[in-house]
Amino acid sequence: MNIALFYFSATGITEIISNHIATILEGEGNSVKLTNMITPDSRQTQIDFLEFDACIFGFPVFGGRPPTVAEDWMRTIDGRNLKCSMFFTYGARDLEWAHQVAYYLLTQANFQVVLSAEFIGKHSFNVAKGWSLAEDRPNQLDFEVATEFALQSIIRFQKDSKFNIDLSEFSYKPVKTIETKGPYSKFYPSRVTDDCSMCYLCEKECPVKAFDAISGETNRKLCITCMHCVTICPDKVIHVGDVSQLLEKFMDHFGLTEDIVEQKRSKIIF
Ligand SMILES: Cc1cc2nc3c(=O)[nH]c(=O)nc-3n(C[C@H](O)[C@H](O)[C@H](O)COP(=O)(O)O)c2cc1C
Ligand code: SF4
Ligand code: SF4
Repeated sequence: MNIALFYFSATGITEIISNHIATILEGEGNSVKLTNMITPDSRQTQIDFLEFDACIFGFPVFGGRPPTVAEDWMRTIDGRNLKCSMFFTYGARDLEWAHQVAYYLLTQANFQVVLSAEFIGKHSFNVAKGWSLAEDRPNQLDFEVATEFALQSIIRFQKDSKFNIDLSEFSYKPVKTIETKGPYSKFYPSRVTDDCSMCYLCEKECPVKAFDAISGETNRKLCITCMHCVTICPDKVIHVGDVSQLLEKFMDHFGLTEDIVEQKRSKIIF
């Protein structure tokens, strides 16, 4: 089969899982076209989904749902009745409505969703000093689930199968990005020294056009704190604040302990 795998990955975790899934699919004799939809340009390109036999979508969970820009993108595409599966990576807190939101939007976009899955991944905020959640994920077990997800996706792309996510408790509302005030505003990135080679990657690759390479600052009204600029800066000069005080409060607030995080498992939703 000719399979397209579209993913959104800011710190590389969804990309690692996507690459693993592609390797498994290719090992089974399929061809896979991988595309990271992180840049605004990539999300503006018109896609004819009928060039493919099936499609897979991978998103990180941001605030219990897909990133707002990924949701905006899903509202612009037309799957023309193509079969697809979808998966999420999340930083061991919770997925909340992520499956429902993407299932709803992809169904509205004329895709037949046949399978979904969720994978634990290192938390994006681990790039910040003093934050550490699921640092060693995805691990061997997570990759085994990703292998199974790839194989099950092929089976479901080829035969009739019933898959349904219950939307009875769910109603879709788009969210708007708003500027974060208070302690969590420490996650806004900025350049910390002038020792920068001015490659403009931070500005070109920011998913919401928020980062300004000249000033080294982000527009807080647009920034979704995805940590992509921090991750990709070749000179490692874009940083976020020290958030060690925040992690304990976050863990307490969400009832998380290191043991609970360790016990969290990736899984396929059949
Ligand atoms: C703004 C933001 C919000 C996040 N919200 C959640 C969340 O609600 N639940 C969770 O478990 N992880 C959350 N995470 C962690 C990411 O889902 C996780 O680290 C993911 O694997 C990152 O994927 P990526 O590297 O492909 O961007 C969040 C990360 C960011 C940057
Ligand atoms: S990505 Fe880093 S090195 Fe490149 S312009 Fe931005 S701050 Fe400078
Ligand atoms: S400026 Fe904000 S939205 Fe843009 S890449 Fe950096 S963290 Fe992500």
